[in-house]
Amino acid sequence: LPQAQPTQAQPPQVLSSETRRFSIQPLNRFQGASARIKRPCEVAHFSYDDKHEYRDDDSSINYYVPPPIGADLKEGFDKFRHYEDKEDPHLDSLLRAVMHKESSNDRSNAEIKADFVTWRGMMTKIMTAPYDNFAEFSMFATLHKGTIYLEEDFPSRAASRAAESSRPPPRNPHPDQQPQAMMTYWGYKFETLSLIPTPPSSTSPAQIAAHQASTTSNHAQHCSIVSTSFGPHTLLLGGEVDGLLGPKPPSTDTSTPVPWVELKTAEQLPPPHRQQHRDILRFERKLLKFWAQSFLLGVPTIVVGFRTKSGVLTGLQSFKTHELPGMVRRGTGCWDGNVCINFAAEFLGWLKGCVREEGRVYSVVLRKKSGVVEVREVGEGTGGIVSEEFVRWREEK
Ligand code: A3P
Ligand code: MG
Ligand code: MG
Repeated sequence: LPQAQPTQAQPPQVLSSETRRFSIQPLNRFQGASARIKRPCEVAHFSYDDKHEYRDDDSSINYYVPPPIGADLKEGFDKFRHYEDKEDPHLDSLLRAVMHKESSNDRSNAEIKADFVTWRGMMTKIMTAPYDNFAEFSMFATLHKGTIYLEEDFPSRAASRAAESSRPPPRNPHPDQQPQAMMTYWGYKFETLSLIPTPPSSTSPAQIAAHQASTTSNHAQHCSIVSTSFGPHTLLLGGEVDGLLGPKPPSTDTSTPVPWVELKTAEQLPPPHRQQHRDILRFERKLLKFWAQSFLLGVPTIVVGFRTKSGVLTGLQSFKTHELPGMVRRGTGCWDGNVCINFAAEFLGWLKGCVREEGRVYSVVLRKKSGVVEVREVGEGTGGIVSEEFVRWREEK
């Protein structure tokens, strides 16, 4: 019998210590017509129920009703059921919904593929970074079977949240100044007043009032997963959608946009005769985040609830997402949507060139005021970014 050859010991894998950098400035290289973009198209969805448990369905979809003007958004703060992730959620729910969709035996059960898979929030951070000197992010990426999976660096976010909540309050606050926790609450309270679980046409005024008076909670969510593209790069993005303005078209109809609505709160502007440039500037800067967030999932309408400094709802204004870049161009010009799109397209191309080796974890970091995104290898494997369940699912394909 031939003698068994001793198996050759694998050389220890050496992590590359190389750091690669992408400079955001100068922005003029991103000006001009925007890179080709595809209208986002929903490919899957899922819900979190009232215990924040995952469900393969649309049970947490809500419908918009106009909230009562004059409502105090601080009301009910003491009863707020606030959900915050204690464990790293990674991309697990998004991938679960993709597996569910692929296994359902309708005609669209082909593999749902893209160059990048991530939460919408990561792309919002990337897209808006060119116009925010204070922008900072920390993410992890890994390449698996040709797709780059990108997630938030959960430990660093949890640490900065903890630091923020232990910060002492300001010594001499403005009399109307509210604590940070309250400012987070009233965004959700605005949603409670504006969303009901059944179409308004089949809901009685008494039922609507009962929903509006219910305890505010952010446990339940409905998330839409869309396929989209920036220039040559395809993406699968998952994110929360607040509500519907009308019925959702059947999933077989991919040409009609879903009439999602994004709800936002903002401090009311002074009356026109007292408005100063800086008031408009502050609001239009805020619109960049609203636009990017909604644009990425193809949410066509944004309803802004204006509030006083102390949180009383004083007015509503509806914006068409696709009209916002033009509005700001004609206004203060403080951001340019084409630059955001071109920057994101270039950045994704560069990231593809960095995240090249399978079985590696890369960190993708933008430090505040640095203006430079740095990518380096930080570990082996997939770092939990791609769930084990999903790795097996792809292996079995
Ligand atoms: P506002 O955006 O009106 O302040 P979303 O708008 O994304 O649907 O989120 C709903 C609300 O959650 C927000 O309402 C805000 O109150 C809270 N929220 C979301 N992201 C937050 C963040 N990064 N920090 C603090 N609050 C946040
Ligand atoms: Mg939301
Ligand atoms: Mg919202």
